[in-house]
Amino acid sequence: MDIRRIAVIGAGTMGSGIAQVCATYGYPVTLIDVVPEQLEKAQVSIRQSVEKLHSKGRITDAQRDAVLSGIRTSLRMEDAAEADLVVEAVVERLEVKQEVFAQLDRLTRPEAILASNTSSISITKLGAATRRPDKVIGMHFMNPVPLMKLVEIIRGLATSDETAATVIALAKALDKVPVEAQDYPGFISNRILCPMINEAIYALMEGVGTAEAIDTVMKLGMNHPMGPLELADLIGLDVVLNILEVLHRELGDDKYRPCPLLRRMVAAGYLGRKTGRGFYTYT
Ligand code: CAA
Repeated sequence: MDIRRIAVIGAGTMGSGIAQVCATYGYPVTLIDVVPEQLEKAQVSIRQSVEKLHSKGRITDAQRDAVLSGIRTSLRMEDAAEADLVVEAVVERLEVKQEVFAQLDRLTRPEAILASNTSSISITKLGAATRRPDKVIGMHFMNPVPLMKLVEIIRGLATSDETAATVIALAKALDKVPVEAQDYPGFISNRILCPMINEAIYALMEGVGTAEAIDTVMKLGMNHPMGPLELADLIGLDVVLNILEVLHRELGDDKYRPCPLLRRMVAAGYLGRKTGRGFYTYT
């Protein structure tokens, strides 16, 4: 199938990054959110991001202009109706995503592909909320979307080969590297990443080392670009906790038990960069 127009649902960090990358590579995008302030924030962050990438020569003049002129924002889900592909990037709650998928199923053309950027929710369950589970698939982008090469592609039980081939081709057209994962909790990325972050939080809670020591060991000793605690602050501690809860519940193994310190920090509202405080403080 030929993808010509894309809609992105949810204008948070991931949704705005996905809209930006799609527009960079020439796809007209409609970015939809129910909260007007969220759309305004997204427009500001997209502009800042493209200006930065442009000033570093990482995107051309034409790509910058394509982003600045190629993203339409909307408060109405109905504006996804024209899209050949919709990427959903709303809050990580199953019932919210299922409702969005059921709505998109009613609003979009029957041949449109419905993709989710979920980091941990079953694609099979999202497909079951529609009458087109063969056209439902996971397209899991990484944060920060404009800089990270990976897109994890997750097929639900009913996803067709044609749908998978279309989104794999699209990911390549966005200059990303698609990698296929099966629809098990956390897929590949978070099955491995979140337990590592959780272990780093246990090490901090038990006083094995300071946050700086733990992060420095992983950066200088293992060549990770960011330490696990810095990365947790970037992802959002609420998001990390949510993913660990999914792994713990759905795989039923206590090795995924979220660290009590993580729970305490989320309860306190220390969610990382987005609230100005997590394992580190941000001004
Ligand atoms: N757009 C444009 N520029 C951006 C940007 C964005 N969205 N985000 C950051 N930058 C800029 C920074 O502002 C910085 O600019 P300056 O050089 O002008 O200061 C520049 O990119 C690079 O920053 P750094 O100098 O820190 O360079 P870096 O080489 O360390 O790269 C990084 C930054 C790519 C974020 C790197 O630190 C990295 O790869 N970190 C790990 C990120 C990661 O693991 N992401 C996955 C998270 S998990 C996930 O997303 C999935 C999930 O389900 C939880």
